[in-house]
Amino acid sequence: MIEILDLQKIYRMGNVEVRALDGVTLTIEKGEFLGIMGASGSGKTTLLHMLGLLDTPTSGKILIDGMDISLFSDYEKTMFRLYKLGYVFQDYALVPDLTVMENVSIPAMLRQDRTDEQTTKDTLEILERIGLRDRKDHLPRELSGGQQQRVSIARSIVNKPDILFADEPCANLDTENSKIVLDLFREINREMQQTIVMVSHEEWHKDYFHRIVQLRDGKVVSDDMHEERKTSAGFQQ
Ligand SMILES: Nc1ncnc2c1ncn2[C@@H]1O[C@H](COP(=O)(O)OP(=O)(O)O)[C@@H](O)[C@H]1O
Ligand SMILES: [Mg+2]
Repeated sequence: MIEILDLQKIYRMGNVEVRALDGVTLTIEKGEFLGIMGASGSGKTTLLHMLGLLDTPTSGKILIDGMDISLFSDYEKTMFRLYKLGYVFQDYALVPDLTVMENVSIPAMLRQDRTDEQTTKDTLEILERIGLRDRKDHLPRELSGGQQQRVSIARSIVNKPDILFADEPCANLDTENSKIVLDLFREINREMQQTIVMVSHEEWHKDYFHRIVQLRDGKVVSDDMHEERKTSAGFQQ
């Protein structure tokens, strides 16, 4: 469970103050597939970065499973990110000179508690799962955008994180590939009971989410639960 209490993020540039987040309070349940929506500049990416321990708020609190993340040392934050969190970005963020296999293995290789055999086994399993095992020796540029995004999703789940963060993962994809990516998130959420927090500004993505939080000018302006989805997806509070 993620508890967000009166979160503020203020960027100061010279004399100008930008309130990117202006008092966000929100609780995200375990296993939830949450959509964060809102116009460009409404604070979606900023919120995701705070929750993903990629940046620190100006004030307010974030508790993950009861732990106040502001109390973590840099080392604890790094470990927490590595073992508990996964990230998917709009531009895939794959390493261009590494093969598909190597890209997906990176988070697993960084862990101290995995043998090389285990990493190879996990990586191949996940490539099989996303239907790209036969592309394991290819470089990212030899794949389509949709395939590259599937590789980045594989990389984000190789450590079986508790929480997956995705910032507009379909922004550079056509409708068909967006559906493939969204279906993959849905399956991951169902099978692994992973919490997924996904930023989007496409209306039709709403059908995939259990719950939709709308931001405007750094504030939550609506918070709607999708009752039907909630039960059909087996999501339990
Ligand atoms: N590093 C930064 N420095 C200054 N202002 C920023 C920075 N990052 C974001 N902002 C501002 O904060 C607001 C929210 O940005 P962002 O979270 O990226 O919105 P969204 O992802 O919803 O488009 C915007 O007004 C943006 O210009
Ligand atoms: Mg953004």
